[in-house]
Amino acid sequence: MTTLTSPPRQQVVRIARHPEGAPRADDFRLDEDVVPRPSAGELRVRVDCLSIDPYLRALLGARYLTARPPVGAVVPGTGLCTVVESGDPGFAPGDLVVGDCGWRETAALPAAAVRRVDPGLAPPTTALGVLGIPGLTAWAGLRTIARPRAGDTVLVSTAAGAVGSLAGQLARRDGARPVGIAGGPDKCRLAVTEFGYAACVDYRAKDFEAQLRATCPDGIDVYFDNVGGRVLEAAIGLLRKHARVVLCGLIDQYNAAQRPPGPNLGPVIGTRATLTGLVVYDHLDRLPDFLAEVAPGVRDGSIRWREDVRRGLAAAPQAFVDLMRGANVGKLLVRVDGTPATGRSG
Ligand SMILES: NC(=O)c1ccc[n+]([C@@H]2O[C@H](COP(=O)([O-])OP(=O)(O)OC[C@H]3O[C@@H](n4cnc5c(N)ncnc54)[C@H](OP(=O)(O)O)[C@@H]3O)[C@@H](O)[C@H]2O)c1
Repeated sequence: MTTLTSPPRQQVVRIARHPEGAPRADDFRLDEDVVPRPSAGELRVRVDCLSIDPYLRALLGARYLTARPPVGAVVPGTGLCTVVESGDPGFAPGDLVVGDCGWRETAALPAAAVRRVDPGLAPPTTALGVLGIPGLTAWAGLRTIARPRAGDTVLVSTAAGAVGSLAGQLARRDGARPVGIAGGPDKCRLAVTEFGYAACVDYRAKDFEAQLRATCPDGIDVYFDNVGGRVLEAAIGLLRKHARVVLCGLIDQYNAAQRPPGPNLGPVIGTRATLTGLVVYDHLDRLPDFLAEVAPGVRDGSIRWREDVRRGLAAAPQAFVDLMRGANVGKLLVRVDGTPATGRSG
């Protein structure tokens, strides 16, 4: 019971157990916690909107770059937040920031660890999607590893998703022919009509490999891999000489207890292809270059983006379940502040 002397409380979502296989909503539980009090150098923030990201599944499966959070911990995650109280002279109440707030209503964040969001640049939630880490991932993979040239065929998996939808558009701007891979005819259509792919192949189709070969008859110069597994295997078989492969994500295996056997990398030798792993955090210092290139296109509408927005902190577990089975269309967000859920695009 809350009394006059009780500290104020807030809703949080905790890890109820580490998921086995595909995550379930009851792997998480809604709970209460005290509202944190910021120390010097910290900001007290209201969490407006949470980013729901695939890396969480790898983290909960102890397959990520950082240690697995224990059962009972608040679910880690990034959010768009409004500063409520500032212990840092560089920030004032009302400022918008992106930070690692976790799945909770309010947080105390070190001012040095947040990124300021300019609301004049584009709708602020794009700082979690096309102008945030997913966008930077696409940009860094293309600009620092793939380096598409005019006329190249650039193959991208999860083509209708947060990373993939921008990767294709940037490749097209470079004069390349972007070919997407996505799950189901609706997402394939979206990849072509909205995100500028020249063609998109459904990886769930029985004859996926044959369709991919027919769509890329001269092979591929770049493969931007967000999936791994059977899709990577098919792409490796289509490499042209000196192709570049960006190894960005392995969502096909995040739910699996055991790592599957790897693809046959023999063609990498014959084609003298380059496979390079991508970790977006190595490229955070390039954020200003990325924003200078991509934000004007987001503002004038020449770069398209989609959001799939769910409503309320309690919706976060099901949103994550949906992400891991492909039931999201666009960057998956959860509005914590109660603003209506929508499918927004620009
Ligand atoms: N390396 C890095 O630093 C870095 C940074 C950010 C993201 N990533 C990676 O980039 C990838 C995309 O992330 P995102 O945030 O843009 O997510 P997203 O594409 O918006 O959403 C995830 C999508 O993955 C697809 N998917 C799920 N299971 C799949 C499977 N078994 N095989 C093929 N596709 C599957 C689903 O689309 P379909 O309906 O098409 O199946 C789902 O909508 C992930 O692998 C993520 O880990 C890497």
